[in-house]
Amino acid sequence: MAAVEFTVFHVILLFWSLRTAESRVTTFIGCESRCGGIEIPYPFGMKEGCFLDERFKIHCNSSSEYPKLTVNGTDLVVRSISASDSTIYASFPIVFTNCEGKDRNTVVDLEGSPFVFSSENYFVASGCNNLALMNQNNSAIGGCVSICDKNRILIAGCSGINCCQTRSPSNLKVFNVTMKGIDDRNGSGGEKQCRYAYLADRSLIDVYGRDYYYGGDSDLNYMKDVDSVRAVLDWGIDRRVFESLVNNGSYNNLSYTSTCKELNTSISSTIQNPIVQCSCETGFEGNPYLSGICQEGTTFVSSRRKIKAKMASLGVVVGFGALFLFISLWWLHKVFKRKRCEKLKKKYFKRNGGLLLEEQLSSGEVNVEKIKMFPSKELDKATH
Ligand SMILES: *[C@@H]1O[C@H](CO)[C@@H](O)[C@H](O)[C@H]1NC(C)=O
Ligand SMILES: *[C@@H]1O[C@H](CO)[C@@H](O)[C@H](O)[C@H]1NC(C)=O
Ligand SMILES: *[C@@H]1O[C@H](CO)[C@@H](O)[C@H](O)[C@H]1NC(C)=O
Ligand SMILES: *[C@@H]1O[C@H](CO)[C@@H](O)[C@H](O)[C@H]1NC(C)=O
Ligand SMILES: *[C@@H]1O[C@H](CO)[C@@H](O)[C@H](O)[C@H]1NC(C)=O
Ligand SMILES: *[C@@H]1O[C@H](CO)[C@@H](O)[C@H](O)[C@H]1NC(C)=O
Ligand SMILES: *[C@@H]1O[C@H](CO)[C@@H](O)[C@H](O)[C@H]1NC(C)=O
Ligand SMILES: *[C@@H]1O[C@H](CO)[C@@H](O)[C@H](O)[C@H]1NC(C)=O
Repeated sequence: MAAVEFTVFHVILLFWSLRTAESRVTTFIGCESRCGGIEIPYPFGMKEGCFLDERFKIHCNSSSEYPKLTVNGTDLVVRSISASDSTIYASFPIVFTNCEGKDRNTVVDLEGSPFVFSSENYFVASGCNNLALMNQNNSAIGGCVSICDKNRILIAGCSGINCCQTRSPSNLKVFNVTMKGIDDRNGSGGEKQCRYAYLADRSLIDVYGRDYYYGGDSDLNYMKDVDSVRAVLDWGIDRRVFESLVNNGSYNNLSYTSTCKELNTSISSTIQNPIVQCSCETGFEGNPYLSGICQEGTTFVSSRRKIKAKMASLGVVVGFGALFLFISLWWLHKVFKRKRCEKLKKKYFKRNGGLLLEEQLSSGEVNVEKIKMFPSKELDKATH
């Protein structure tokens, strides 16, 4: 029964992928695929039946610009979602300390969710004599230090003076930053300095990863107007959910157009629920999470067309060659058959006393009245 359902499902899917060959298939039929200009691919969705589970639910308010995703109580503004890369770009709050009433320390905890901070992010911290640490489970798992130089107000590059940056650790599940002065007694304002830190996706590093000063000259007050920076999360489907989808035929795990792999993301030794990430094989594109079936990529199709055209021209040549060869062989066969026939006729003529008859006829010994000659055709008719 499940097999029948599965096949029916595939037929429908095939039909549908043919129908929408031009526009890429990103979500189920009847589901809104966009919110405020941003594509919402499955397993994300806005309505019941469109998202895989509540944790992939996107809040879409047509009057506000960007869709929102609630991750463990924190509302994140979604900037883009990719099903083929299993990533989601969202704005994350900047952590401020001593910055003119802007102070806040937002902790984003992804534990228990199918999301994890990508190691493609950079951790950036700005401040004078600043020790900025990322904490997870009451211990530091990354951070950086910047020393102080009052005379260097704005210098391109965040490389340890007034600003520092480092690659985000892999499997970062919690964003919890603490900042403190490394030399509070001497100059530099110590704890009173404005310090701030954030995660930024790699492509933003040239924009944000500079020692932009906060609270100084007006030109340099870049961060004063910024509250959040875009960072990237990796996501996947819970292994248990994935297995149930495979078992009930909603997901074709054996498709040659896609592959899935497991990823351990939990920082807890007790919670062991890895996520499964799927992607299309090279040459295929689309949403690998819909059913496990990706569509043939456009570049792949065009190269295949070229090969097909080549094969076709080759085929014509080979075809004509074969036809010519066949005709020649058939003609040769005919000629040989006729030759053989003639030979056989002569042989049988000799064997069956034809020569004797000839002799007798010529010597006049035989009564010609007794002999009746039959044309060979009539003989054939009579004997068959
Ligand atoms: C949509 O956003 C507007 C303005 O931000 C707000 O007034 C309204 O209540 C929101 N609607 C929903 C359904 O959340
Ligand atoms: C959510 O965040 C809280 C702390 O903010 C954390 O204790 C909890 O483990 C997180 N995960 C879930 C699924 O609630
Ligand atoms: C953040 O990390 C610090 C230092 O490890 C810890 O004391 C604090 O409880 C953490 N905050 C949250 C909300 O987990
Ligand atoms: C720190 O201050 C003390 C006394 O105030 C001074 O002796 C020392 O040289 C200072 N250290 C630095 C690194 O400026
Ligand atoms: C398959 O399992 C998933 C997850 O348990 C469920 O959401 C879905 O409705 C099931 N599909 C069918 C066809 O039973
Ligand atoms: C389905 O995919 C998962 C993850 O790649 C793998 O562990 C499992 O063996 C696959 N199952 C089948 C039936 O292929
Ligand atoms: C995930 O963790 C489990 C238990 O710690 C381990 O057995 C498994 O090999 C890990 N899988 C991967 C892909 O690292
Ligand atoms: C946190 O660290 C303690 C030891 O410091 C450890 O026993 C505990 O299992 C850790 N918790 C998680 C969720 O990893």
